[in-house]
Amino acid sequence: MAAHVDIVLDDDRAYRVLIGSGAISEKASWIDALGSKVAVITNATVGDLYLDTMASAVDRDLDVIEIGDGEEFKNLRTFSQVIDRLVDGGHNRDSTIIALGGGVVGDIAGFVAASYQRGIGYIQVPTTLLAQVDSSVGGKTAVNHPSGKNLIGAFYQPDLVIADTDTLTSLPEREYLAGIAEVIKYGVIGDPEFFQWLEANVEDVSGREPSAMEHAIRRSCQLKAEIVTEDEREIGIRAKLNFGHTFAHAIETVTGYRSYLHGEAVAIGMVMAADLSVRMDLCQSDTVDRIRQLIEAFGLPVASPKLPTPLMLETMAMDKKVIGGRMRFVLVKRIGEVFVESGVPQSALEETLVAETDATLG
Ligand code: NAD
Ligand code: GLY
Repeated sequence: MAAHVDIVLDDDRAYRVLIGSGAISEKASWIDALGSKVAVITNATVGDLYLDTMASAVDRDLDVIEIGDGEEFKNLRTFSQVIDRLVDGGHNRDSTIIALGGGVVGDIAGFVAASYQRGIGYIQVPTTLLAQVDSSVGGKTAVNHPSGKNLIGAFYQPDLVIADTDTLTSLPEREYLAGIAEVIKYGVIGDPEFFQWLEANVEDVSGREPSAMEHAIRRSCQLKAEIVTEDEREIGIRAKLNFGHTFAHAIETVTGYRSYLHGEAVAIGMVMAADLSVRMDLCQSDTVDRIRQLIEAFGLPVASPKLPTPLMLETMAMDKKVIGGRMRFVLVKRIGEVFVESGVPQSALEETLVAETDATLG
């Protein structure tokens, strides 16, 4: 039996995140969750690995819509092609979409579900660690625009999330570790005991030991659920989930999305955000040391190559999180306690950018 986390948004909207080994194959989970017709959105990589397993559990006719594999396919062109397939397949308001894949598949499928006939039901079946702990939960859906990532999207919650930890066994090492950066993030933003548990269980978590993986995913989803149920549309505390992300997005943009996976950039960004917090006398230096050490212990990067500070500043100023012309950063007081700050002095920011990029890596 899979473990679960319940996400209760209001009287009318609640859903369950099922987490565990073999969760996809539990037939009972699917029965009540499906509409009259079912479309699966996936890509060739994940489809080849898990579509048959899923199909035998779902036990229904499936309209399989395969999209390209990669961030470059997360755009309006793919969105439009998927919509065409739904129209051709005669899907209506009572159809259900299943997103089988990582965050790219999940974000597109969620946006399609939000838009098709003004919204139809969808189920997330995340198959990357990042998708299991972050993107499949919380209802952010989007596609990219040439001018920026996730510029077109909607908040639209799934009806069910099935996070089968068995799927993570086939995930390339680099993708798995990138997901761990988001897991570490949850410890920093909301749970010092979980952070400590990660410090004590690096070997098991990085070695994909099933019960360690399940615990890490379940606790991450619980922490995300607490935040999302309080602030679904990121008016307030949901911004905490962006810890490290203002720096990370700038690093990804400045390096042309070629050097780092998102989680790797988040790992560096979390060190930068902690460093900035120390420079502003908001936290003690041992906090940044612990964050850096844990990230390093998982083999994730803690510094980027030397990146031009003016370009980083300019890029951060364009971030979606800028409000009223002021950059917002999630800063840390201590492990487990973060807050949003829009009054960061330029001098401290520049010092962090200079100190936390490593010329030797360039
Ligand atoms: P991804 O979806 O590109 O998957 C990474 C790679 O792993 C792909 O090549 C994929 O085909 C492959 N893959 C997936 N599952 C596999 C498996 N089980 N075995 C082997 N290979 C597998 O990347 P991702 O990191 O999962 O997601 C990144 C996307 O998520 C970005 O577009 C990002 O913007 C988005 N995101 C969204 C949210 C949100 O709240 N909606 C949060 C974080 C990230
Ligand atoms: N990934 C950040 C959020 O869901 O808000």
